[in-house]
Amino acid sequence: MSSYWINSTENLENYENLSKNLKVDVCIIGAGMFGLTTGYYLAKSGQKVAILDEDKIGMKASGNTSAKITFAHGLIYDYLISSYGSDFAFDYLRANKEAISNIKKIINKENIDCDFEYQPNYIYTIEQSEVSKIHSECKALETLHEPAEFVTSSALPFKIAGAIKIDNQAQFHPRKYMLGLANSIVKYGGQIFENSQVQDIVKNVNDYDVLVNNFKVTAKYVVVASHFPFPKFAGLYFSKMYQSTSYCLALDTNSKAFDGMFINVKEPIYSFRTAKFGDKRLLILTGAGHKTGFSVTEADSYGKLESFAFKLFPNANVLYKWNTRDAISLDKIPYIGVLSGLMPNCFVGTGFNKWGMTSSNVAANIVSDKILGINNNYAYVFNSSRMHPFKNFGEVKNMSSQVFKSFVSNRLQIPKEDLSAIQNDNGGIINVDGTNIGIYKDSSGNIFAVNPTCTHLGCLLTWNNLDKTWDCPCHGSRFNFKGENLYDPAFKNLEKFGL
Ligand code: FES
Repeated sequence: MSSYWINSTENLENYENLSKNLKVDVCIIGAGMFGLTTGYYLAKSGQKVAILDEDKIGMKASGNTSAKITFAHGLIYDYLISSYGSDFAFDYLRANKEAISNIKKIINKENIDCDFEYQPNYIYTIEQSEVSKIHSECKALETLHEPAEFVTSSALPFKIAGAIKIDNQAQFHPRKYMLGLANSIVKYGGQIFENSQVQDIVKNVNDYDVLVNNFKVTAKYVVVASHFPFPKFAGLYFSKMYQSTSYCLALDTNSKAFDGMFINVKEPIYSFRTAKFGDKRLLILTGAGHKTGFSVTEADSYGKLESFAFKLFPNANVLYKWNTRDAISLDKIPYIGVLSGLMPNCFVGTGFNKWGMTSSNVAANIVSDKILGINNNYAYVFNSSRMHPFKNFGEVKNMSSQVFKSFVSNRLQIPKEDLSAIQNDNGGIINVDGTNIGIYKDSSGNIFAVNPTCTHLGCLLTWNNLDKTWDCPCHGSRFNFKGENLYDPAFKNLEKFGL
């Protein structure tokens, strides 16, 4: 199940895998939105850049996003002002607002055909009891001198109680944009290597070796743009972020498409936008989110979205379905800057929450400015080594209880050996003589057995029967039923057992 964006740009470009040692100025690990944008700015400035990706360009979070380009990151500004003050909130807003115009400038300069279009953004509620939150956010934006309008009607096919409307936000086709960025990087002398999974970053006296199979890229600067940083302990990101999974549908509604991008304020979250699809428009509906690593059924995920969509559009056809992951920072602010105090000249951008389009551009500007020795006025807001206390206590409690559950209570619930209890086309964990074994039985009854211990930091994995994957509830790594690693921060495969 891959996204509309990936399906509509499949196999357009191919880059070779790394097959020799290289020496460059900057090695970037990850060819998603952040890695490619950083590579673009640096290659254009004359730096010798190499970008490595374990897969193909934009196949992970950046190719599965809803691709809204907005600084309206939910009800963020009231929270930022009350937690960190209005100057801080103002700089967060300015950084993300500039990101919208930066993206447009790149598209214009490089002539990238990616369906970019300005749209108004709405944060809405259907519940009268939530309207006061909308008013507070409008007031926060007024404090920051940002025009925002309170409205009580919209183009949505249902009644709303109230919404903030912000004009001049945008949307695009993210993978077309990323493939355009890649072309420009190569035009400016940069190199891109696909199917080149990084195993380690080794610090030398004056530079780093980035290891890929039998080869290495030696670079003065390294940028970890791998969504959730894969170095295990550097920067302790595992203690301040978790991953969340959301589900997306692309529908032909067989009715007139509406303008605008929409998201509601309260769970269950429903996010809407439209996208060009030949001479029609698709509706992209996103929601039904949960922490990565929870076991869900088709009915709990795509089913929820489908029943919501069919109530609104009884004649709709679902053309594409996919899911995506977001790295969620506990204080709602991305981490951008040095990866760790012990690794100077090694940079990171992560924890973009669900707002990766503007956040990745903000991160690319901050990191490329650091490498080029340019002062960046917004860097302090996103400082990756910040120590200020978390103000978002709900998320802190949520994450710690999940990690505890994975390390302790889930382990106590594993049944003793009972292979027969696992049905065909399903998976689960059994315990044989004190050893946990993760079992998947395919539809013919063939058994695939792995050690269900995450190769990142050792949490117990859970079986996801929707995607036939082993998912980590701690920091969101995923592995296929054969134990092969699919998503970071883990990058090693699971141990396989022969039964
Ligand atoms: Fe960190 Fe699994 S992703 S322990």
